[in-house]
Parts: sequence; C-alpha cells; structure tokens
Amino acid sequence: MPTVTVGEKTLNCDRGANLRRVLLDNNIDLYNGKAQFINCRGLGSCGTCAVEIEGEVSEANWKEQGRLSLPPHSPTRGLRLACQTKVLGNIKVRKYDGFWGQGQERVW
Ligand code: FES
Repeated sequence: MPTVTVGEKTLNCDRGANLRRVLLDNNIDLYNGKAQFINCRGLGSCGTCAVEIEGEVSEANWKEQGRLSLPPHSPTRGLRLACQTKVLGNIKVRKYDGFWGQGQERVW
C-alpha cells in the first residue's frame, strides 16, 4: 500500500488512487484560498490542484499537459495536477502558494 507524505503527515492509499481524492479525504488543504470554492472539482481544467510530487505516479495525460502548459503554469516547472494523477508508489507531495499553486513559497 503506497504512502503519501504531506509535510509531517503520512497517509496510506491504494495503488492507483486518485491523488486529489486521497488529499481531500484526509483533510489536506489542496486548494489555496478561494480556489477551495472556485475549482473544477477534478475535471483537469482549472489548474488549481497543482502540486509538486516526488515519487512514482502516473504519466501526465493530455488534459494535464494542456493545462500545465498555460499560464500561470509553465510546462517546465514540473508541477502535476493532483486530480489527474494516480498514486503508484510512495510519494512526497508539496504545495506552493498562489491561487493555482504556481508560486515559489511552500504552503506545505
Ligand atoms: S481540480 Fe481543477 S485541474 Fe484539478
């Protein structure tokens, strides 16, 4: 069973679990500020669930690649959309500031 490390917390999930669901089900604040209310609920279109991931996860699909190639995101930053990502092994997840999580300051 893969583990998802978020700051000091370690969560367990099934292999293949949707990362957005894992984080929200464990009361992790995936969205910054008002993005908590204004987001696409996992459709892969808003870009506000962007996180940095270390570890084994699914490849980015076309939807995710498309959204992350549009400002304020950048395809070279290396962020991932939690809503489009499946957890495949033990991972560490970090969230940055900004409405879309596009900032440079770590939130968690
Ligand atoms: S929740 Fe909107 S892109 Fe992930």
